[in-house]
Amino acid sequence: MTGEEIKSTSVQYNMQSWSKQKGINPISVEKAEGIYFWDYEGTRYSDMSSQLVNLNVGFGNKDIADAIKKQVDQYCFVGPSYGAESRATLAKMLIDLMPDNMGKVFFTNAGADANENAIKMARMYTGRNKVFSRYRSYHGSSFGAGNLTGEPRRYALEPGIPGFVKFFDPYIYREPIKFESEEAAGDYYVAKLREQIIYEGSDSVAAIVMETITGSNGIIIPPKNYMPGVRKICDDFGIMMICDEVMTGFGRTGKMFGFENFDVKPDIVSFAKGVTCGYVPLGGCVISKKIAEYFDDNFLSCGLTYSGHPLGCAAGVACVNFYEKANILENVNKVGAVLKSRLEEFRDKYACVGDVRAIGLFSAIELVKDKTTKEALVPYGKDPEGIMGKILGLLKQRQFMTYTHENMVFICPPLIITEEQLLEELVKVDEVLAIIDKEFL
Ligand SMILES: Cc1ncc(COP(=O)(O)O)c(C=O)c1O
Repeated sequence: MTGEEIKSTSVQYNMQSWSKQKGINPISVEKAEGIYFWDYEGTRYSDMSSQLVNLNVGFGNKDIADAIKKQVDQYCFVGPSYGAESRATLAKMLIDLMPDNMGKVFFTNAGADANENAIKMARMYTGRNKVFSRYRSYHGSSFGAGNLTGEPRRYALEPGIPGFVKFFDPYIYREPIKFESEEAAGDYYVAKLREQIIYEGSDSVAAIVMETITGSNGIIIPPKNYMPGVRKICDDFGIMMICDEVMTGFGRTGKMFGFENFDVKPDIVSFAKGVTCGYVPLGGCVISKKIAEYFDDNFLSCGLTYSGHPLGCAAGVACVNFYEKANILENVNKVGAVLKSRLEEFRDKYACVGDVRAIGLFSAIELVKDKTTKEALVPYGKDPEGIMGKILGLLKQRQFMTYTHENMVFICPPLIITEEQLLEELVKVDEVLAIIDKEFL
C-alpha cells in the first residue's frame, strides 16, 4: 500500500480513540528508529511524547525484538495456568524491583485492566466497596478504570459506579489558597482527604487510587510530604494505597517507579506502558505480601485469557534488562535536568506560559491567556475554537510530534534521547510559543 492508501483505508474503516471521526488525518508511518519515525514521503518526525508516553526505549530496540522472536520460536502462547519461563522470570524481576513489602504480580493486557484488577483485589481483601480517586486523573477507559478516572473522559460512563468517590488534587498552581510552603500545601491536601474519608465512612473505603505523579492531566507533582500523608491515612483506616504507575513506572520520572520519589511503600502498584514499551501489550498489578497471603486461602476472582502472555512477558524481561544495561535512569536525570531548565526559561520568556512542570523526562507546559489571572488558554473540558489543535499543528509543521490535554502541551520524549537531540527539538517549541504569544492571546 502507498502512504495515501493506508491513510484513506484507515480513515474509512478504523475508529480512532478520543476523537470525532470526521477530519482525522493520520500520518502513515513507514519506518521508525530511536526517537524518530518517517512517513511514506520520507519526512522525518520526532517522537516527543514517546507515542502515548509508553515508548520509553524508542523505536527499533533490538534486544526486545530478539527476545520476542525467540519466544515466538518457542511458542507464542500457553494459558495463564501453565508455567512459562518468560512469565515467571518477569514476575520475579518486578518483585525484585519493588519495595520489600511487595509479594506477587497479576498480569493484565494493559493499564486499564491493571487498575480494574487492582481495585477488585483491594475490595476483596478489605471487604469494603468504596474507592477514592482524584479529579484530575486518567486511569483507563474501560468501565471500572473509566469510573476511577476523574477528568472529562469519565463523563460518557456516567452515572458511574456507586461508591467511586473523587477528591481534589494537590494542584498548587491552580489552588486559590496561597500556602506558605510546599509542606503547608501538602499538609492541607492530606487533611482535607482525611476529612473526606471520615465523612464517607472510613470503614467503607477499600482503596485510594492515585497516579503517583499525575500524567495526562498535567504532570502534577505532589509536595514531598503528600504521599507519606496519604500513606498514613491508609494505615490509620486500613485502606489500600494503590499507585497507578502506568505512566510513571519504568524510569519516566528519573526513578524506576514514581513512588520512589516520595519514600512510600504502596499496597498495590498498577503498571503497563513502559514494562514492554508497547513492543507487545502488557500490564499488571503488583500486590503486597499481605494481600498475596490473603489470596492463599481466599479465591482470587480475577482472570484474563491473556494474563501474562508469554510474548508480552518475553518483551518485558528484555525491556527491564535494557533499562539497566543502558543505564536509563542516569540519562533520564541528566537530560531531564536540561529539559526542566529550558522549560523554566520559556516560562520566564513567554506570556502564554503560566506554569511548567517537569520531573525526569515527564513534563508539561501549561498555557494561559493571562499570567496574572491564570486564565487557561482553553476552558476546562472544552476547546470550541480548536486552539490546542492549532498549536499541535504548528508543532507538527516542525515535525515535532506530541499531544495536548486541556491547556497543556506535553513533552515526554523517549528515555534514550540525548541532550543534543532534546535541545534541537526545544528550538521548535521556542518558535511555537513565540507564535502563541503573538497570535493566540
Ligand atoms: C496513568 C494511567 N493509567 C492507566 C492508563 C490506561 O492504560 P491503557 O491505555 O494501557 O489501558 C493510562 C493510559 O494512558 C494512564 O496514563
